[in-house]
Amino acid sequence: YRDLRVALLGCGSVGAQVARIILEHGDELAARIGAKLTLSGIAVRDLDAPRDAPLPRELFTTDAEQLVLGADIVVELMGGVEPARSLILRALEGGADVVTANKALIAAHGPELADAAEQVGAQLSYEAAVAGAIPIIRPLRESLAGDHITRVLGIVNGSTNYILDRMDRFGDSAEDAMRVASELGYLEADPTLDVEGYDAAQKATILASIAFHTEVPVDAVYREGITKVTAEQIEAAKHAGYVIKLLAIAERLTASDGTDGVSARVYPALIRREHPLAAVHGGKNAVFVEADAAGELMFYGAGAGGSETASAVLGDLVSAARRHVVGGPGIPGSAHAALPILPVGEVSTSY
Ligand code: HSE
Repeated sequence: YRDLRVALLGCGSVGAQVARIILEHGDELAARIGAKLTLSGIAVRDLDAPRDAPLPRELFTTDAEQLVLGADIVVELMGGVEPARSLILRALEGGADVVTANKALIAAHGPELADAAEQVGAQLSYEAAVAGAIPIIRPLRESLAGDHITRVLGIVNGSTNYILDRMDRFGDSAEDAMRVASELGYLEADPTLDVEGYDAAQKATILASIAFHTEVPVDAVYREGITKVTAEQIEAAKHAGYVIKLLAIAERLTASDGTDGVSARVYPALIRREHPLAAVHGGKNAVFVEADAAGELMFYGAGAGGSETASAVLGDLVSAARRHVVGGPGIPGSAHAALPILPVGEVSTSY
């Protein structure tokens, strides 16, 4: 087999699992790809930090820039906008393919990075940036590319789903449910990102941009978190036959003045108890897609977790690696049609 050099940036819970699987399942992956993935190094900030998997110490470096230079494929799992953005641009400029799970970066700079990839014919993929293990980016971008998607409803933040689900099923107060979620480590380091809907809004941007082949800036996403949802509201919704879920919604709409556009929004919505999304319990994620020809589809699974998210990263990595072997164009970047973003006033709040 030919060798493909894979540079890993970041070694948190996801990065450690990606590295472990590359090392443990190298032969199986090589047979599948037709090339051997060689982990050329793992860039980290602290060489001595504890890791979630036993990994050879000689792989670690603090010099991410140097590591990126010699790579065929760069896997960015460090998170945050900088230095991730600069490192990815450098990798793409050097012709490397890039796999990332960085939702904040893709939500803020997806079009810029997609352009940079397209210019050099490289592949930029980020299946793991939305809904962890669940395949949703590729289905929207490829499997449904010939269809006309009308609406995407996502439970894409596991911690808030866990909190709302406890309130609904066990009658927890908002404070108790939040405390349990925090104790279980479900919340982001800054819980505001979860409970105020910022995390879900980043994912809504990515889903809307891909589903509708347009650019939806994250600040165009209407956002309302779960902090105002009370136990009484959940009880009242239950009596009326609904459950309250924090949804990330991307929808193609015609406004009352006849303008065609896109609506992207995040808020606690009422969902009929019979709707498949009502059965998404605990910290799980699901994305419900409505398309003209396909009808209704639902993608369900783990939206977070080291090995779960690593699964999505590895799928992108294998796809990028196969492209080195068989050639062909990268996954198309996001298109640049500018559909207007419609105001939230015109939309339904129950599903
Ligand atoms: N804080 C996120 C969640 C992690 O609760 O879903 C996964 O993106």
